[in-house]
Amino acid sequence: MNETLNVLVIDDNQDQLEVLRIVLGKRDPDLKVEVYADPAAGLQALSEKSFDVVLLDYSLPGVNGLDLLRQIKDRWPHLPVIFVTGQGNEKIAVAAMRDGAHDYIIKEGDYLKFLHKTIRHAHEKAQLEKQILTSKLRLQALFDGIQDFISVQDREFNVVMVNRKFADWVEEEPDALVGRKCYEVYFKRSEPCENCPLQATFQTRQKDFLEMHHDNEVFHIWSYPMTGLDGHLDFAIEHLRRVTDQKRMEEQLIQNDKLVTLGILSSGIAHEIRNPLNIIEAARYYLSEVIPPEETDKHEKLMIIRKNVYRASRIINNLLEFSRKKDMDAQEIDVNAILEKTLALIEKEMRVRDIEVVRELEPGLITYFDPDGLRQISLNLILNAIQAMPEGGTLYLRTRRDESGNICLEVEDTGIGIPPENLKNLFAPFFTTKPIGEGTGLGLYIVNAIVSRNGGEIKVESEIGKGTLFRVMLPRKSSPDVANGKLIENHRAEAINA
Ligand SMILES: Nc1ncnc2c1ncn2[C@@H]1O[C@H](COP(=O)(O)OP(=O)(O)OP(=O)(O)O)[C@@H](O)[C@H]1O
Ligand SMILES: [Mg+2]
Repeated sequence: MNETLNVLVIDDNQDQLEVLRIVLGKRDPDLKVEVYADPAAGLQALSEKSFDVVLLDYSLPGVNGLDLLRQIKDRWPHLPVIFVTGQGNEKIAVAAMRDGAHDYIIKEGDYLKFLHKTIRHAHEKAQLEKQILTSKLRLQALFDGIQDFISVQDREFNVVMVNRKFADWVEEEPDALVGRKCYEVYFKRSEPCENCPLQATFQTRQKDFLEMHHDNEVFHIWSYPMTGLDGHLDFAIEHLRRVTDQKRMEEQLIQNDKLVTLGILSSGIAHEIRNPLNIIEAARYYLSEVIPPEETDKHEKLMIIRKNVYRASRIINNLLEFSRKKDMDAQEIDVNAILEKTLALIEKEMRVRDIEVVRELEPGLITYFDPDGLRQISLNLILNAIQAMPEGGTLYLRTRRDESGNICLEVEDTGIGIPPENLKNLFAPFFTTKPIGEGTGLGLYIVNAIVSRNGGEIKVESEIGKGTLFRVMLPRKSSPDVANGKLIENHRAEAINA
């Protein structure tokens, strides 16, 4: 049994309409035919009821059949229209096809005999077109919904199809990219990219992959063969993903992982080396006591031992600090007092090196911080400043409390300065410009680690030949223990112990 189809016929010839109705009803009773001699009434019927096929005569009263066809196609673009013309009007039939008619019929011979078949055929064709359009729209929606960049290209790298995301990236409309070279549009190049995976896919008919670095970005590019029904490989799909952030994160993770391992390793080694160092230092001390003072060359050698033991233990302390995760011993501290104690450790060294210290310390800077952490920060910054002034100079030490209550510590020198290209690496672990044995490159890394895990900030200003300023901001903090009584407990314990 045939599907019932509603057919609308517009033809000004009443006799013709009658014949049509009778013939069609006889040949295919499932065609429900409505006939209109007046084009306006036909249009009215179309807007009120759903029809499956329209049969439209070319010669109509007061209106050109082609105009009416265009009106119908504008309002119902997927409704199949069969255009009917008289003999000698074949050219008009071709124009009607161009304007969207599904088929045409020339009124000649026994054309009525096959009209029902033409109607069914036009309907089937329209149904198929609808299905194709629906799947095309679905595919396009899918294509455009993908958040990676997708394009289809031919063997000459001409873009054939591109998704919305890709077009947005280059700030163009997808249609404007069709026909242009992939490498020009996306990478602003005049020739294909080296190791282009599409080129490989066209050669091998296999999928391919490339990690590409371009403009400080990292891309992953996959290419897939797109074989036609005839088996020819005329097109390939390019799937491009920007992975810059992911890459950075991966590198960071690897770096963190390395650092954790290094931390465990170095704290183990540091503990092991501390003991022999203590023994060396004790032995040196003993020798310095028993060797008569007039044997100066021996005392000089002992000084060399002392200096190097000191250097080795500083490296060990750095390594231990490096592996330390938390500031366990935060307490109320006097910032200036800690700075003074740190300075006292190295003041002699500074005098020898002809370095003058200028203090601009705001009194009464009490905060809640790990004293060892602050000692590490100030010692590393001051040592760096000293090392930057081999010919002597001035070291400025400044402390103050800013309007938000944060503590600000400045260590400034009049030394060699830092080349701009080194600024970005300063806080990286093991970055050093000092000769092997003199610097581990951990000083600023540790400073930065302590400052940032306490919610602070560190800034550098430097000019080659003029000097460097390190400004550390430690956020205002009050003791969490005061509230829960821990400090009071501690005081009580101290009082009992005393
Ligand atoms: N005040 C400064 N003036 C000039 N360069 C500096 C200054 N502070 C740091 N630098 C540069 O930054 C690098 C890294 O400093 P950092 O303190 O991390 O390591 P280091 O001093 O080389 O070794 P370490 O501190 O472990 O003994 C130094 O090698 C130096 O090039
Ligand atoms: Mg240093």
